[in-house]
Amino acid sequence: PKAQKIKVKQSIESRGKRVKVSGWVHRLRVQGKDMMFVVLRDGTGYLQCVLTGKLCHNYDAITLSVESTITVYGVINALPEGKTAPDNHELVVDFWEVVGKAPSGDDAFNNKVTQDADPSFLLDSRHLVIRGETQSAVLKARAQVIKAFRAHYDSRGYTEVTPPCMVQTQVEGGSTLFEFNYYGEKAYLTQSSQLYLETCLPSLGDVFCLAESYRAEKSHTRRHLSEYSHLEAEMAFLSFDDLLESLEDLLCDTIERVMADEPTRKLVEQLNPNFKMPERPFMRMKYADAIEYLRANDIKKEDGSYYVFGEDIPEAPERAMTDKINRPIFLTHFPAEIKAFYMQKVPGDRRVTESVDVLMPNVGEIVGGSMRMDNREELLEAYNKAGIDPTPYYWYTDQRKYGTTPHGGYGLGVERFLAWLLNRHTVRDCSLYPRFTGRCTP
Ligand code: 4AD
Ligand code: MG
Repeated sequence: PKAQKIKVKQSIESRGKRVKVSGWVHRLRVQGKDMMFVVLRDGTGYLQCVLTGKLCHNYDAITLSVESTITVYGVINALPEGKTAPDNHELVVDFWEVVGKAPSGDDAFNNKVTQDADPSFLLDSRHLVIRGETQSAVLKARAQVIKAFRAHYDSRGYTEVTPPCMVQTQVEGGSTLFEFNYYGEKAYLTQSSQLYLETCLPSLGDVFCLAESYRAEKSHTRRHLSEYSHLEAEMAFLSFDDLLESLEDLLCDTIERVMADEPTRKLVEQLNPNFKMPERPFMRMKYADAIEYLRANDIKKEDGSYYVFGEDIPEAPERAMTDKINRPIFLTHFPAEIKAFYMQKVPGDRRVTESVDVLMPNVGEIVGGSMRMDNREELLEAYNKAGIDPTPYYWYTDQRKYGTTPHGGYGLGVERFLAWLLNRHTVRDCSLYPRFTGRCTP
């Protein structure tokens, strides 16, 4: 009978029919000279194929190697008890052909891409590493998570916008700007789309974007990339409490959406068997109390002294604290002097800002957000204090001139969220082709 062309993920519903499937040889096991087992991978799943007799005797069969591309024809049969294969079935091949051969011997895929290979070699081989079961599961989960974020915003009435990546303003300080020559003018790769999102409020109401942000981070850490996917949202006419609530809603609702999809839940459980849904409400902790917490728990600086109010809490103590508390934390009310120029100060205590970081066990900060200064004079003063020339910011300042409003928003690092959700050691594993100091290849 004529074979129906299918993808591996259609194999359950195609049992009993003659099908044609194409893919990559994921695993290969030769049993004697009359039997070969091939696990075929096509990006939608894995399918065990069994080749017997004459099908194993030709030159292509004898020289077949992992990662070669092949097309197989045959019928998919359920497996008897005691035999195991993906989805408990196998394709009994009656005809097959090679599409493209992969090398064997020293140059074979399996010999190159091993878990204990040199990390920089694995990064150079990222285009091959992503073919692996773990990395492809991470990339699949990532796609589903992004879908869930979008579904969340859609259900809450936000409009998605696409701000520019080439800009002439900074958002999070001059030290991490990537500068480039824009037709003879100085320009930067954006650090955050926040300022542009703010300008969309009067036009579109609540808005969000998913765009790449760029940071020239000189530090080599497990959570810093030079290019990362930044999910940002901005809302008008809201209070700081509303902002915290909307963040809790974003995180919990998105995770619920991710876990409600059966194949995605399986991916999360495969990668992070101990995953537990975060409990609402999240713990709320003021920066000043975090400074106290660090002292009470004897978490110190490298020089042996304690952190004091007004100092930035770096990655290591932040993680130590978060891991100890072991649940999501809203860390709020950071001192104005360690935060960006645009942050709204607390009306009753102008030393601190209406700001929040979301901290997750194992990763630390995954979200940074705040209320924004909505008074024009105060903003002009803030530029001045930060040493920023207000001229190129005229469009941002204008927001306070043509109908100002209390407003706020946040940015979430997608790779950091994934590192938490999927229990990855580093954000590099959650990026398709990670960029960080010294790496821009492949
Ligand atoms: O805390 P950040 O710098 O805040 C902002 O950019 C705000 N303008 C966002 C806003 O309010 N719209 O960055 C936000 C988040 C961080 O919490 C972190 O998750 C992620 O972006 N992030 C990075 N992720 C990977 N590599 C880096 N170098 C990152 N820098 C920030
Ligand atoms: Mg931050």
